[in-house]
Amino acid sequence: MERHWLLCLLITTLVASTMAADEEAQQRAADRVTNLPGQPPVPFQHYSGYIQLQTQNEKSMFYWFFEAQTEPALKPLVIWLHGGPGCSSVAFGAAQEIGPFLVRRPSYFTNRLTFNEYSWNKVANVLFLESPVSVGFSYTNNSNDLLEIGDQVVANDTLAFLLGWFKRFPDFKSHDFYIIGESYGGHYAPQLAHLIYETNKGATQDSFINLKGFMMGNAVINDQTDTLGIVDYAWSHGIISDKLYQSLKADCEDFKLPHTSSQCNNQLKAFFDAFSGIDIFNVYSPVCVLNFSSTTTSSNLEDVGFEIPSTFDPCVNNYVRKYFNQKEVQRALHANVTNLPYPYTLCSGDADARVPVTSTRYSITKLGLPVIGEWRPWFYKRQVGRVGWRLMVKDSPWPPYAAEVTKPHYRHEIGHFLCSPIFCLTVACHLPGFDLR
Ligand SMILES: *[C@@H]1O[C@H](CO)[C@@H](O)[C@H](O)[C@H]1NC(C)=O
Ligand SMILES: *[C@@H]1O[C@H](CO)[C@@H](O)[C@H](O)[C@H]1NC(C)=O
Ligand SMILES: *[C@@H]1O[C@H](CO)[C@@H](O)[C@H](O)[C@H]1NC(C)=O
Ligand SMILES: *[C@@H]1O[C@H](CO)[C@@H](O)[C@H](O)[C@H]1NC(C)=O
Repeated sequence: MERHWLLCLLITTLVASTMAADEEAQQRAADRVTNLPGQPPVPFQHYSGYIQLQTQNEKSMFYWFFEAQTEPALKPLVIWLHGGPGCSSVAFGAAQEIGPFLVRRPSYFTNRLTFNEYSWNKVANVLFLESPVSVGFSYTNNSNDLLEIGDQVVANDTLAFLLGWFKRFPDFKSHDFYIIGESYGGHYAPQLAHLIYETNKGATQDSFINLKGFMMGNAVINDQTDTLGIVDYAWSHGIISDKLYQSLKADCEDFKLPHTSSQCNNQLKAFFDAFSGIDIFNVYSPVCVLNFSSTTTSSNLEDVGFEIPSTFDPCVNNYVRKYFNQKEVQRALHANVTNLPYPYTLCSGDADARVPVTSTRYSITKLGLPVIGEWRPWFYKRQVGRVGWRLMVKDSPWPPYAAEVTKPHYRHEIGHFLCSPIFCLTVACHLPGFDLR
């Protein structure tokens, strides 16, 4: 009798898991993006949609996944985590930096996505996640969740997301997996790597993640060094006066204090005021002077007597916001299916981070890890200025390995970062002032 019962249970479980797998396969097919407005034709597949977290099931996280352009079955999987905290990996990482489709200035009648020749899906399967919940299209139905968001919650939720995502895309489960964090992602990437590393120790086949390494670019690592770096950068680029520079450093005591004084806060306010009229994310760029009201249907920089630089359009954030707010775009991406009561924004909240090369340098020094490669220019097609600098820091016991990440023309260019099993902290710096989110 008991054996029958066990057999019955076994069969029920098998049937249930087969059904679950079938449902996931159906959902995967439904997540395929086939009709994205303005998209150039491409031979590879991409998918987007929601993964409901099993641990916190009122949370639903939005992803956009691009299979590698060729031989996706043989290529690693990377997850891209944008910073802020609170900025969208889709709006920045995918639509402006390393995704295959970059949002461009729309023409009068059409959406415009251009194919990105530097897309990372040349070498990897790339997964963009909007995190934490409330960023982009990711949401929670429990408003209390919003009060608890912090690095630990983000790490937990991202892991829960990944486990759910692998159920939908089981073919990628065995691929080498890498985590990439930009800006505040400098916190997300190592913390997620650590959580996965620890969880893997007691993992079942189901919950094991084949983590090979992580990478950070323009990373926020440490408040004191990061702030010092911003201030030094602004002073050295003539954005603030000697006087403000001196008083900032004096009143803020080189930013060492955990709590800043009101004098320091006033100085900091004056400091950020100095950036009005300057694009803090690219100090050499003109600022966007267009008036993008929500009713604007087209934009024309020439109308305001302004020549658009061929490589960088300071208004791109506006185009991106407009693009992802369109109903047809959301429908194509299977986004906003619950009719969220607020519009799509690139960053939720205003806690933007700005992370110049000076900050990164100070922060690396503070890490106290042995440097295995000195600062040096990185040549690309025999040009140097175009790419910036790099530094490698070793975190034993694995062999050190360098990522070459760079952003000619404001993009991260793919590099040879997907080779050996690594646990090496790689920090990539770019030309000062280029992109900081
Ligand atoms: C959130 O609520 C909406 C509306 O009731 C529902 O359609 C959706 O499935 C819920 N999502 C989650 C993750 O609970
Ligand atoms: C993260 O998850 C672990 C394990 O499920 C749990 O013990 C911990 O409380 C969670 N932390 C947060 C901040 O949610
Ligand atoms: C932008 O345009 C809107 C609508 O046309 C108008 O109400 C607003 O005053 C304009 N803002 C600026 C700064 O010109
Ligand atoms: C979601 O859809 C609703 C209804 O169409 C819209 O008002 C809202 O702006 C959208 N929100 C996002 C985040 O796209």
